[in-house]
Amino acid sequence: MSYKIAQIRLVSSHPEVYEPCDDSFALVDALLSDRNNLLELKPMLCMEVGCGSGYVITSLMLMLGEEANGAQFIATDINHHAIRVTQETMESHGVYAELINTDIASGLENRLAGSVDLLVVNPPYVPTPEDEVGREGIASAWAGGENGRSVIDKILPVAEKLLSKRGWLYMVTLTANNPSQICRQMMKKGYASKIVVQRSTVEESLHIIKFWKDNDIEADTNDTITNSKAVPLGIVDSVRSQIQRLSFWGSSDINTTTN
Ligand SMILES: C[S@@+](CC[C@H](N)C(=O)[O-])C[C@H]1O[C@@H](n2cnc3c(N)ncnc32)[C@H](O)[C@@H]1O
Repeated sequence: MSYKIAQIRLVSSHPEVYEPCDDSFALVDALLSDRNNLLELKPMLCMEVGCGSGYVITSLMLMLGEEANGAQFIATDINHHAIRVTQETMESHGVYAELINTDIASGLENRLAGSVDLLVVNPPYVPTPEDEVGREGIASAWAGGENGRSVIDKILPVAEKLLSKRGWLYMVTLTANNPSQICRQMMKKGYASKIVVQRSTVEESLHIIKFWKDNDIEADTNDTITNSKAVPLGIVDSVRSQIQRLSFWGSSDINTTTN
């Protein structure tokens, strides 16, 4: 079975929609590096919060391909221009996801509670003044408030609510977001974590963290953690992109087809 994601073409854009960048590429690399595990997981419901141009959700659908076996895909974005751009990106690649213009998953929590098997998020994570968070337009793509955590800290409890018992969450974070603290916070809720991809660029140091429910971690409201098996925090399982750099927006012919 072959799959292609490197030929995602620029078919639509908008000045207020986030154009895929190193963080988007790192997230897709993380998903690619875990593709075999994802196929074994057989996710029935996959979701992206903050789909932007549609690069990630389209890549995910193409990557899972026919082997996704009837999985459903949903993506949300608070920016209505992003919904249109994602729609056009998906259409031109022959894939379909339900697209919803909403704040994180507002209005969907009851419908989707406990049923999302795969959740992917590249949130606004850049530390900014708090009043820049959630502004109209392109600023909402990156403005993360204090320590870049404002939107992340709203997404995490929603993720917990939406994820199924076997659900996995992949999230982009920056060193400034204090990823180990995020992992500890999630561990208190019963989630193990590991850094799937760590990548430093000139501007930032990115971590793509994978979270999954671990029954050996006893969630404790008193902030204590009992954990016999989870990956110790700080241990990095870096795949350092063994995968060819993805091309995007109609550039070269780089192709990550495998057989
Ligand atoms: C860093 S961009 C990532 C876009 C795309 N997923 C990618 O990786 O290229 C963050 C996206 O999250 C969206 N976003 C910001 N706050 C949001 C919220 N509260 N609910 C839903 N989407 C949000 C932005 O509009 C933007 O499209």
